[in-house]
Amino acid sequence: MCGIVGCVGAENAAALLIEGLKKLEYRGYDSSGIAVFTKDGIRVEKKQGRIAALEEKLAADGYPKGTLGIGHTRWATHGVPSDVNAHPHSCGRVTLVHNGIIENDYELREELEREGAVFLSETDTEVAAHLLDRFYTPGHPVEAIAAAMKRLRGTFALAILFSDDPEHLYGVRKDSPLIVGIGEGEYFLASDVPAILNRIGRYYLPEDREIAVLSRKGVSFLLPDGTPAPEKEPLTADWSVDAAEKGGYPHFMLKEIMEQPETLRAAIGPRCAHGVGGILKKELPDVSGVERILIVACGSAMHAGMVGKHAIESLARIPTEVCIASEFRYQNPILKKGDVVIVVSQSGETADSLAALRLAKEKGTPVWAIVNVVGSSIAREADRVIYLYVGPEIAVATTKAYTAQVALLDLLAIRLAYERKTVTEERAERLFGAMNRLPETVRLVLGQTERIRNLAKFNREAEHSFFIGRGQDYAVCCEGSLKLKEISYQHSEAYAAGELKHGTISLITPGTPVVAVATTAALLEKTVSNAKEAGSRGARLLLLTRKSLKPRDTFYRDLLLLPDEEELLMPVIAIVPLQYYAYCTAVERGCDVDKPRNLAKSVTVE
Ligand code: M6R
Repeated sequence: MCGIVGCVGAENAAALLIEGLKKLEYRGYDSSGIAVFTKDGIRVEKKQGRIAALEEKLAADGYPKGTLGIGHTRWATHGVPSDVNAHPHSCGRVTLVHNGIIENDYELREELEREGAVFLSETDTEVAAHLLDRFYTPGHPVEAIAAAMKRLRGTFALAILFSDDPEHLYGVRKDSPLIVGIGEGEYFLASDVPAILNRIGRYYLPEDREIAVLSRKGVSFLLPDGTPAPEKEPLTADWSVDAAEKGGYPHFMLKEIMEQPETLRAAIGPRCAHGVGGILKKELPDVSGVERILIVACGSAMHAGMVGKHAIESLARIPTEVCIASEFRYQNPILKKGDVVIVVSQSGETADSLAALRLAKEKGTPVWAIVNVVGSSIAREADRVIYLYVGPEIAVATTKAYTAQVALLDLLAIRLAYERKTVTEERAERLFGAMNRLPETVRLVLGQTERIRNLAKFNREAEHSFFIGRGQDYAVCCEGSLKLKEISYQHSEAYAAGELKHGTISLITPGTPVVAVATTAALLEKTVSNAKEAGSRGARLLLLTRKSLKPRDTFYRDLLLLPDEEELLMPVIAIVPLQYYAYCTAVERGCDVDKPRNLAKSVTVE
């Protein structure tokens, strides 16, 4: 994880770096630091804690004066969060920041120590600084970077300064994200586009192991042997700056929940512009010959896959498996002709998902990706990409990207079913119409916020809570439960409703909140029975169902009624109040909603 930024231009680098780091804080916030070339050499400032702590230090010590520098915000992997372990790390003439993991850090450290190196920190990054310094001879930075790269195993994006080279900033990556931004008379390195969106118009995506050399005069890319890298076209940074700001909301998560009608419209609209037969035609011109689908993802993206499995199997009758990416990679998966792997990822940089993608490709299986971040590693390496188009998602807890992932999997299911004629044309048209209405249906749901806020207030002290549902409602429960525990730290479990009585029901005590999700007509009675079983043990029951399914008997304590829509779409509609419930609970419990403890938005380590 971690976020890195670098800049060279005419303006004060420290201020630009801090501004960029604040936008990258979602990638980790255990410590932060900057290094700036001043007239007296490189000055490093770093501090444990949030970027606000570094700002306080800089306000006290004085901001370094200079126009070229690098910065870092850390999610600790090697070594505790502390001032010493904070980046940048220096050795001799080299100062650098790093995102990724150096897997052979231990053996390199031992080797360097045998040669007399003294390490100050516990980080793998300091090993890279020592290695670079060992290979560096003045005037030959590219050779040093190339030689160090040969020895480093693992993943890295590095921004590097050499103390005798005050006019240049160097960047290099391997399997970790790094972009090179082009501003007006200034150039940037960053882990992602939003970090520098307000300063750049275009950007480059360097290939693995290409060395980016940035100066006030421009940018060049070299191969490790020092020859120029193949020409690359700059991309346009067309995400709006507002999309990366809070826009008046107290938290990014709330903003992102509330903008779901628009983000769903952005994800669905272009895919539906040419009628039901044209769904996703641009991204997937040919979907014939698919015999089995494996959806591979992590966390919420995996929950989106669970909904997708249900949609694809029930509509298109194609056997579909959902695989946890970190397991898929090590289970020697059986892949055969006719299989397609679909990798789902907001960031497009999740290490486990990326590794799974590579494994599938190695085995010759076609890979389609459903990704938000344009140009991310997963997007680039997949055979086919379906972008979410929901703009930058900043809160660590995903909301708008999740609903777009589910909507796109639903659209894929409709397309497959239509082509394979596993549904009638009328049914396909009906579902297509419902997909087009989905953004407005979600807007209606967002009108119930006051009741949800009160529920969250009431349940704020609970230690445990449970979510139960069957079929696709169970997938909604998994996501609702993850949202709640991830940001409010209230322990929560999702159970297939029928499973509760096989053990977990012993945890239900008077007052335990239980959310029963029951939006599927055929399963309503069964889920209601399971909810009643919990209610008889004292659970405080919240029933989430559709208007037309409202039970006559009021066995529940609280009720949230959702608009009536095609069942296929209910998971998108039902998750929205649960996202808001998690948000309100976290606020009630005084949690840091956008940056929950121990987490990071983009998990680029295995
Ligand atoms: O960027 P990705 O979609 O690949 O991320 C996958 C998970 O890390 C992510 O969904 C995580 O579970 C979220 N924090 C949940 O809100």
